[in-house]
Amino acid sequence: MIGRLNHVAIAVPDLAAASAQYAETLGATVGAPQDEPEHGVTVVFIELPNTKIELLHPLGEDSPIRGFLDKNPAGGIHHICYEVEDILAARDRLTARGARILGSGEPKIGAHGKPVLFLHPKDFNGTLIELEQV
Ligand code: CO
Repeated sequence: MIGRLNHVAIAVPDLAAASAQYAETLGATVGAPQDEPEHGVTVVFIELPNTKIELLHPLGEDSPIRGFLDKNPAGGIHHICYEVEDILAARDRLTARGARILGSGEPKIGAHGKPVLFLHPKDFNGTLIELEQV
């Protein structure tokens, strides 16, 4: 059911420093910061030949990233995103097998303008998984 790895998202305490590190130390192609107020994050997209890295930084007081950074002040991998062809079919398959969908269970429009869902990390080895319909 799942397809390509769409991105790995890393929560960072200092977006400018992390962007500079990826650009200069790791030599990656790093985009400009983009505010995503509806998701409570500022995102920097890093294009790799086979996938993307997304640097996430809290935007606003009720950002979903803030609690993660409180627990992981140096930053850390926040989630990984797999591509699916049909997100509603994916949701139904997962819930039929006992996996929990975070939030309302209805897809939201994600940072790339496409429908996404998040799966409960306790059901997947402690990994927060995002599914994105492509
Ligand atoms: Co994501």
